[in-house]
Amino acid sequence: MTDRYAVFGNPIGHSRSPRIHALFAAQTGQDISYEAILAAKDGFATAVSTFMASGDGPAKGANVTVPFKEEAFRLATRRTARAEAAGAVNTLSFEQDAMIGDNTDGAGLVRDLKHNLGCDPAGRRILLLGAGGAARGVILPLLLERPAELLIANRTEQTAARLALEFARLPGCAVDVKPDGTGFAGLAGRQFDLVINATSAGLSGASLPLPPYVFGPRSVAYEMVYGRETAFMAQARAAGARVADGLGMLVEQAAEAFFVWRGVRPHTAPVLAALKGS
Ligand code: ATR
Repeated sequence: MTDRYAVFGNPIGHSRSPRIHALFAAQTGQDISYEAILAAKDGFATAVSTFMASGDGPAKGANVTVPFKEEAFRLATRRTARAEAAGAVNTLSFEQDAMIGDNTDGAGLVRDLKHNLGCDPAGRRILLLGAGGAARGVILPLLLERPAELLIANRTEQTAARLALEFARLPGCAVDVKPDGTGFAGLAGRQFDLVINATSAGLSGASLPLPPYVFGPRSVAYEMVYGRETAFMAQARAAGARVADGLGMLVEQAAEAFFVWRGVRPHTAPVLAALKGS
C-alpha cells in the first residue's frame, strides 16, 4: 500500500510541492503519493479528516500552507519545539492516536543559506524585515545558528518590539543572542551582512523604505517570496548586494518535511535545478 501525503492551502493551484515530493520520492525510492488539496477557507479541519478517511493507502502526513498554518497548529495534538516557537505548523505527521505538528520553514531557510548560498548565519549581523507569521517562523532557527546580531524591523514598530521581546525571553532556549525590534526609521546608518525580507510587501509590488546603506557590497539579500523579481530584490541589487529568492527555502523546507516523514534526507540540488529550469 502506498503511503499518502498532501498539501492543503487556499489557493493551492500554483503549489510546487507535489512536483518537489514526487522528485524526492523517485530519487530516494520511497513509495508515496502526494497531492495538492484546495480546502475551503473555513473547511481546513474537514478537508484533513476527509483526506485521512479516504483513499487506497494510509494517510501519513500533510503539508500546510497559506492561510491554514495557525489552524494546523491548533489542530495538532502534539507539537515540536520549533512549531511552538513559530506559532504555526507547516508539516503534520499522522500517527495512530496523534497528529504531530512541526514547522520546517526556518530549518529550510537556514539550510538554503548555509548549503546552497554559502551564507552561514553564524557570526553575521542579520536584519529580518517583517514581524508577521513568516518572520516569526524563522527567528528561533536563525538564533540557534548564533548570529552576531538579529534585528527585526517592521513597518509597525510595536509589533517588531513585541516579537523581539518574546524571543528574547523564550524559556529553555539556549541562545546568547537576544533579538531587537525597530521600525524602518531605526535602520538609518546601520549595515547588515544578511537582510531577509519576510514582509508580504513583495506580493503587492510595494517597496520598503530601506536606507541604501543597509546593504553592503558583500551583503546577502534574501527574499522569501519566489517566482518574481520584487521591489526588495531590485533595491538590494541596486545597492550591490547578492540577491536570492525563496525557491531554495521552498525546496529545503520540503526536504526537511520529507525527512520528518520518511527518515531519509533527499538531495535538494537536482530538484532545485529542475525547478529553476521550468
Ligand atoms: P505573513 O504570514 O506572510 O508574515 P502577515 O502575518 O500578514 O503575513 O504579516 C505581513 C508582514 O508584512 C507584516 O510584518 C507587515 O507589516 P505590518 O506589521 O506593519 O502590517 C508587512 N508588510 C505588508 N505589506 C507591507 C508594506 N507594503 N510595507 C512594509 N511592510 C509590509
